[in-house]
Amino acid sequence: MSTIIEPFKIKSVEPIYFTTKEERETILKDAFFNPFLIRAEDVMIDLLTDSGTSAMSSAQWAGIMLGDESYAGSNSFFHFENAVRDITGLPIVIPTHQGRAAEKILFSQLGGKGKYILSNTLFDTTRANIEFTGATGVDLLCAEGKIPSVPSPFKGNIDIVALGKFIEEKGADNIPLCIITVTNNSGGGQPVSMQNIRDARAACLKYGIPLFLDACRFAENAFFIKMREPEFANATVEEIVLEMFSYADGCTMSAKKDAFANIGGFIALRDEKLALECRNLLIITEGFPTYGGLAGRDLEAIAIGLHEVLDEHYLQYRIRSIEYLTEKLIAAGVPVMQPAGGHAVYLDALAFLPHLPPDQYPGQALSCALYKEGGIRSVEIGSLMFGKYDNAGQLIPAMMELVRLAIPRRVYTQSHIDYVAEMIIQVFKDRESIKGLKIIYEAPTLRHFTAQLEVMN
Ligand code: F0G
Repeated sequence: MSTIIEPFKIKSVEPIYFTTKEERETILKDAFFNPFLIRAEDVMIDLLTDSGTSAMSSAQWAGIMLGDESYAGSNSFFHFENAVRDITGLPIVIPTHQGRAAEKILFSQLGGKGKYILSNTLFDTTRANIEFTGATGVDLLCAEGKIPSVPSPFKGNIDIVALGKFIEEKGADNIPLCIITVTNNSGGGQPVSMQNIRDARAACLKYGIPLFLDACRFAENAFFIKMREPEFANATVEEIVLEMFSYADGCTMSAKKDAFANIGGFIALRDEKLALECRNLLIITEGFPTYGGLAGRDLEAIAIGLHEVLDEHYLQYRIRSIEYLTEKLIAAGVPVMQPAGGHAVYLDALAFLPHLPPDQYPGQALSCALYKEGGIRSVEIGSLMFGKYDNAGQLIPAMMELVRLAIPRRVYTQSHIDYVAEMIIQVFKDRESIKGLKIIYEAPTLRHFTAQLEVMN
């Protein structure tokens, strides 16, 4: 079959509210040109995130009704624990209310002043949780991952040579862990190869440094390995996932992504001593170790979702639908990150708006233009999210200026995606009219969530 169909039927729907371009202009202004500050009802196609926005299956909704809400030792916890153990092979499972809570707990144990935590690319909350402990987060992305326009099969790989060099330079004692993000969200949703995970494992093992996975999108990464790494062409996704985790000492996970849950996360580990310390902090901040900030019903939905995501018909449809939008944009000359990522299409805002330098926030300006044109909500992954200031108050730009269109799982159909392509291509035709933005308010950390901006004249 050459047409890859959505491998589900729709049982329940939500309305989309339509707005006019004029209305959206006012909405944007009232939201200080920050799509995070727009009401969801005023968005027609919401591609702000693929996190917590999945359509759950009828089996998951049935699981919600079966959720055991016992404070301690609930059945739902054991279903959840078994699912995580089955899929990852990691023996110790600690539930948290979402991914960043897992990060907060893990880095509170392992971080601290003078420490370096190495990664291919840290996601924003991961970096913030590392820096909050006084440690430094270090991105060691492979060279090909930094050039959006050049396709390559595994642009999420960590640079193994740079990894070895960094460890030698700073000393293994100052590096409590290396964490590889699969797929690499901030670097375009690009996959990491099994060989790269093996090589990272070997490099870390040599110096006694634990290797972790930031596993939010583990199944999408595994499907890319099956498609692109010849050794795995005949392996099942389950086998690939097990092998990926076999090289890891542990993982943090946001179940809001590949587990199709609306909330949830976990830490999974092998080290009993570290687990004990994490659980002690968990009890203070999240809850008892058999619920960790979640309701029993959420644990049940995650347990079911973790198995559902391994369905290869689903993963083929998922990866293909992102590729489909990417191909349409490339055909129209729109500069996009290539090849397509696993959960999102990334527009290269610097190439899209060459007249706007990084300190005029081209990614944010483009994101706002997409909202104005088509009611489409996206997110900037560039200098608003990752930019820093030097001592003279000058912006140190981010590595790339991207706009991410994250596709919620099992939510939008092909015609929604066709509409998105049409609107982006329209904005591309009018790109010269798009003006830069300047910040008028920013918080000291994670400023992109609440920043207020205005249009430059
Ligand atoms: N790690 C990665 C790679 C992520 O993409 C996210 C969240 C987290 C950790 C944190 O998980 O949200 O459950 O606390 N990413 C969302 C996004 C928010 O839109 O990409 P969380």
